[in-house]
Amino acid sequence: MMSLLSFRNLGAARSLPAIIGLFAVALLTVPDLAAGWQLGFRLQLGLVWALYAFQLARGLFQRQRGQVTPDTNLPNVIAVVVPALALIWPATRPDAAIFCGVWVLKPLGDLTAFRLVLRVLANEARNLFGVMSIFGIILFVASFFAYLLEHAAQPDTFRSIPQAMWWAITTLTTTGYGDAIPQSLFGRILAGTVMMCGIGVFALWAAILATGFAEELRRQDFILVWKLVADVPLFATLPHRDLAEIVRALKPRRLPAGSVICSKGQMGNEMFFLQEGTVSIAASPPVTLGPGQYFGEMALISGEPRSATVTAATPVTLLALHISDFQLLIDEGSGLADAVRQTAEDRRRSRAET
Ligand code: CMP
Repeated sequence: MMSLLSFRNLGAARSLPAIIGLFAVALLTVPDLAAGWQLGFRLQLGLVWALYAFQLARGLFQRQRGQVTPDTNLPNVIAVVVPALALIWPATRPDAAIFCGVWVLKPLGDLTAFRLVLRVLANEARNLFGVMSIFGIILFVASFFAYLLEHAAQPDTFRSIPQAMWWAITTLTTTGYGDAIPQSLFGRILAGTVMMCGIGVFALWAAILATGFAEELRRQDFILVWKLVADVPLFATLPHRDLAEIVRALKPRRLPAGSVICSKGQMGNEMFFLQEGTVSIAASPPVTLGPGQYFGEMALISGEPRSATVTAATPVTLLALHISDFQLLIDEGSGLADAVRQTAEDRRRSRAET
């Protein structure tokens, strides 16, 4: 879930000015706000606008020098131009500050989460459309019967099938504003049935979206790991089928310099492929491993405790392989297992010799 973590940090930091600005926009609409507060909130808006104007100007300048920058994206241009126009346009309503509401586009444009939602909706469009059709059919049937059962008793509320649809929607979504209530026994039985159907339809929707999100995140992680795996020479010779399997099994991990990855004497249940950075192995003599190399295999093969403490000498990106997945690879007779076994044997021999 590395991708998820990184977008959370980034999106939240970039969205902060927009959140501050939108907060002021909302509070400025409160009637009878004290003059001091009004001034404070307008100042807040001015500062956020100045920041956006600076970012846009910097972006335009960088563009002129041929650099690619997200600062000149459409939401950024809108964020500066719309409030400025609203302020100088003579026909604008007196509360021009409300136009700063366009800043809501800024976090939407920045958030990877938003793009993720759009991708999930696009991927699941067919299934969502299927559930929408069921919703439409239930809506029509419910309105039809509500009209038949209630029209005579409540001709104003259930005047036509389209009007009964309002009742059907509020009932299907279990919102129930209480402005239209069936009075006949059968009308109430219908209402109960429609509510149950509504819960079912929304549960289906939620299930489709949840599965879609999980799938998309898994796919993103898969692509990320696939790219990392490409840098590990040991995997270069693997056939595509084995490679896909190992990519699914590997978990990326980023650690700062100085982190202890495994300690001598502890039982080990993972081995690690080093994608970026270097690690120090406290063997005698000490060993340093770099990108493309791996460690932690000896404990998995022998079942003995870790033979040495391994520490990150620089910030590192590792791909961790759990013992159960390692065992699967061995059982399938993959060439990778033989290579790892051979390395473990060589390392054991070199340790014994020193
Ligand atoms: P393991 O014993 O599971 O945990 C510590 C790891 O350090 C070990 O597996 C090896 O992968 C690695 N290691 C230990 N000694 C050496 C060595 N002499 N040369 C290279 N790697 C080593």
